[in-house]
Amino acid sequence: MIIHMFFLSYLLYSWILADLAYGYYLKNCKIRGNLNDSFDIKVLCGKRNLEVIPTDIPQNVSILDLAINNVSKIGMMDFQGLSKLRIVNISWNQISEVNNGALGHLKALQELNLAHNRLTTLSEHLFQGLANLSLLRLDDNLITTIGSSSFQHLFNLKTVNLTNNKLCSIKEIQNIVQLPHLQELYAGSNRFTSFQSQELSNMSLGLRLLYLSQNPLEIFRITADVLPYLEMLDLAYCGKLESWDVDRSFLRNVKFLNLSGIQMSFEKMSMVLQTVNSSLVYLRLYKIKKEKVKGLIDVACHIPTLRLLRVRLNNLSVLSEDFLQSCKQLTDVDMNENNVFHLTEFSLRSMVHLSVLKLGHNHLSSVPNATRNLPSLTLLDLSFNFIKKLECLDFANLTGLTHLFLSRNQISNIGKCVFQDLKELRVLKLGSNKILNLNDAFMNVLPQLETLVLVFCKLSCLRTGDFKSLQSLKTLHLYDNQIDNMENGTFEGLGNLTELILSSNKISQDYINHNVFRGLTHLRTLDLSSNFITYTTDGYLNSPPFSDLTSLENLYIHSQRHKGMCHLPGIIHTPKLWFLDISKNEFTALMPKLFHPIPRLNRLYLSKTHLQSLDFIIGAQLNRVTYLQVSKNEITVVNETELRSLPSLTYLDMQFSTFTCGCSIAWLIQWMGSDNQTQVVAANMFTCKYPGEFKVTKLLDLDLQFCSVPLGLYYCISTTTLVLLTMLASFTYHFLKWQVVYGYYLFLAFLYENKRKQRKPLTNGCEYDAFISYNVHDEPWVLRELLPELEGHQGWRLCLHHRDFQPGKPILDNIVDGIYGSRKTICVMSRRYLESEWCSREIQVASFRLFDEQKDVLILVFLEEIPDRQLSPYHRMRKLVKKRTYLSWPRAGEHTGVFWQQLRLALETKDVPARDNPILTGVRQERD
Ligand SMILES: *[C@@H]1O[C@H](CO)[C@@H](O)[C@H](O)[C@H]1NC(C)=O
Ligand SMILES: *[C@@H]1O[C@H](CO)[C@@H](O)[C@H](O)[C@H]1NC(C)=O
Ligand SMILES: *[C@@H]1O[C@H](CO)[C@@H](O)[C@H](O)[C@H]1NC(C)=O
Ligand SMILES: *[C@@H]1O[C@H](CO)[C@@H](O)[C@H](O)[C@H]1NC(C)=O
Ligand SMILES: *[C@@H]1O[C@H](CO)[C@@H](O)[C@H](O)[C@H]1NC(C)=O
Ligand SMILES: *[C@@H]1O[C@H](CO)[C@@H](O)[C@H](O)[C@H]1NC(C)=O
Repeated sequence: MIIHMFFLSYLLYSWILADLAYGYYLKNCKIRGNLNDSFDIKVLCGKRNLEVIPTDIPQNVSILDLAINNVSKIGMMDFQGLSKLRIVNISWNQISEVNNGALGHLKALQELNLAHNRLTTLSEHLFQGLANLSLLRLDDNLITTIGSSSFQHLFNLKTVNLTNNKLCSIKEIQNIVQLPHLQELYAGSNRFTSFQSQELSNMSLGLRLLYLSQNPLEIFRITADVLPYLEMLDLAYCGKLESWDVDRSFLRNVKFLNLSGIQMSFEKMSMVLQTVNSSLVYLRLYKIKKEKVKGLIDVACHIPTLRLLRVRLNNLSVLSEDFLQSCKQLTDVDMNENNVFHLTEFSLRSMVHLSVLKLGHNHLSSVPNATRNLPSLTLLDLSFNFIKKLECLDFANLTGLTHLFLSRNQISNIGKCVFQDLKELRVLKLGSNKILNLNDAFMNVLPQLETLVLVFCKLSCLRTGDFKSLQSLKTLHLYDNQIDNMENGTFEGLGNLTELILSSNKISQDYINHNVFRGLTHLRTLDLSSNFITYTTDGYLNSPPFSDLTSLENLYIHSQRHKGMCHLPGIIHTPKLWFLDISKNEFTALMPKLFHPIPRLNRLYLSKTHLQSLDFIIGAQLNRVTYLQVSKNEITVVNETELRSLPSLTYLDMQFSTFTCGCSIAWLIQWMGSDNQTQVVAANMFTCKYPGEFKVTKLLDLDLQFCSVPLGLYYCISTTTLVLLTMLASFTYHFLKWQVVYGYYLFLAFLYENKRKQRKPLTNGCEYDAFISYNVHDEPWVLRELLPELEGHQGWRLCLHHRDFQPGKPILDNIVDGIYGSRKTICVMSRRYLESEWCSREIQVASFRLFDEQKDVLILVFLEEIPDRQLSPYHRMRKLVKKRTYLSWPRAGEHTGVFWQQLRLALETKDVPARDNPILTGVRQERD
């Protein structure tokens, strides 16, 4: 029994403590992921003007982002304890110093990004202990010297980026390229003037990628087979490269070659191409002089393995028939940014395997004839040109085309027949054109189209059936148009649509009704943000616009223009809703029934909505919400019940809130500080708004100790006491119940009886006939009704504490004397009496006379009807009422004569044992 009780109490105790530890915050950073799953924890501290690495980073973090700050030094202790860290990004800082061994704490580190800092020298033991590191970025520093053993501990390093430093000699990187697992070396934009195999190594290396672009290379000499696995070689913008000395067998595996911007003569470049003429697949030739390009393409296209050719920025302007004539095997040609305005009709016809053709950022004023009749073509990019019209035959016979990009042109009209041959098209991008309306552009064409992008156009009206035959469409982007009218059934037929983006238009609530969205039963994402929806009344709760969208998961209605939305339309018919963003509107208050029920709601965004309170949470049943953003509102008080109504909350963003600072907020401070489930973003930045003297004070700097004993201590003491009391009580109750009760009453009676006798030895007779106990609120009745009748008519001597108490005597003594000096005690019962008088210690103690002497001295007079259940807190009174009779004033009604007669009888009775009370038998006994 006792053990049982102890266990129960312990459970209670741990539950109270666990419930208390519920919120936490980091001073400068945010945590993403689950605190309990260390593999998942990301700590984000980017862009915060930090000058030192924060000290409150949780030890089980696995990804840490410190990019874009002003940290200048990594100190010995900065990463102490972060042994689970796998990825650190500390790029874009001012780091010039890293203490030796400072990185050694990061035993699990795999990726370290120190790019864009001010390191000059890599000391000998800098990377000691980073045995698991595989990616190291040191690009864009000021490195001139690398210690000979700096890298020797990095057994697992695969990729190192040293681009944009101040290294002068290839010998500096000797120790790096010889690391057993190194595969990729980025060393562009340094000061290397020569690259010679004998400076690098005398054995073969595992290097697969060598990036040397933008070095002022004069000599490139490979005289031994040190790079047998090299696949990618980037020599772009390496200047003149006077001396090229490579035996072709030493680069036998190079597939990717970048010779852009190189200033070698045509003959030398042909030579370079010859050294890779058995393996080259991908050639990039940007910014080669126009007169060299044609010849080089000829040479390159004679390499049978070549498939991809990128020739941007060569000012090609006109593509003649013979330009790509020898390139039969190519599958992928990129001629973006070449000022092309004309392609002759058959300029592409030789490339019978051509799959990807990029002609973007040129000067084409119409879709060229040359791109027709290329059945192998899958992707055609014509974006960023000057195309004004699309003609019926523009895409003739492109039966294999899956992607067509026409964004950023000047297309205003799309004829009905334009897309008729594009039976396989999946993605069509038409954004940033001047399309005014769709007419019948999509009628009975594009049966496979899955993505249609029509953004930044001038569409103003969407008509019934505009998209009707696009039965495979999954994604429809219509943002940034002028749409102010959507006819019922606009999206009819789009049964496969999952994403509809209508943001930044002029849609008002008049066009948002369930008939517009009719049939979109697979829609998962709907974006209506930045429109003209207002909903000035809550009338739409009952005819909800989204009721057909039974699969909807993500709904964006934030940032309505003009005044913003004042009410939210009903959203309870979308049972799968997971994400809801209604921020930047004008709600001031929300009703719980809006959200009730949306059982899966997980993320709720409510920032900048003029909300003054979070009271809607109570009763909204947001049990699954893990992410709540309510920043930039007018909330000044957050109450405990509200946040406790979000049992799954892990992330609370209340940034830019100003609080009413007083004891009511003490729990919040306590809650935010204790560590466990809910992260409160930037809690350390919260300030007080009221009262005046605390204005601008940081919430966490408030000293609210005086508000309460520290809660933890309080809970600890109270639960411990509770445990002990429960044990004691259960023990005594079990074994000694009656002895204790009796002993207690006896003791009290003895005490007062003694006291009374000592002071004033009363003779047999009593001073008064009755002591009247009443509440001050019932005094009018006592003075006007009771007193005249009992003292006036019936002639009893009564003791009223106001009248008869001796001044200066303690109240307890007065009452005890009054009760003991009277034969009877009349209690004038009312709700007020029960609440104050009955519970007062004096009456409780004094009324034990009843139990002590076993005499019938107590007379209960009810001034109002008090139902049984309201009596239940007053156990002893209830027991009395159940056991005994009483007089009821309201029931007396008109016939007060009977009432007074019964009271007289009760007062007349002699002191006999209470059990057999012969006098009051005439009174109704209804409570049994
Ligand atoms: C290497 O550094 C350069 C220059 O900062 C950067 O542009 C490039 O993306 C980096 N590459 C890798 C793989 O880190
Ligand atoms: C394209 O071909 C048509 C005939 O098929 C011809 O009339 C037209 O001039 C050609 N356009 C260009 C720009 O070559
Ligand atoms: C499309 O291909 C067919 C068959 O090869 C040919 O007859 C027709 O002229 C082509 N259409 C155009 C517009 O080139
Ligand atoms: C969804 O697309 C498939 C073809 O991809 C089509 O057969 C089906 O009818 C479409 N479903 C609806 C409801 O339109
Ligand atoms: C479109 O539907 C709404 C309600 O669903 C209706 O009130 C309205 O009259 C309809 N408009 C037209 C043009 O049919
Ligand atoms: C919290 O606020 C709600 C209404 O907003 C109120 O009903 C409740 O009593 C408050 N709870 C506390 C602990 O103040």
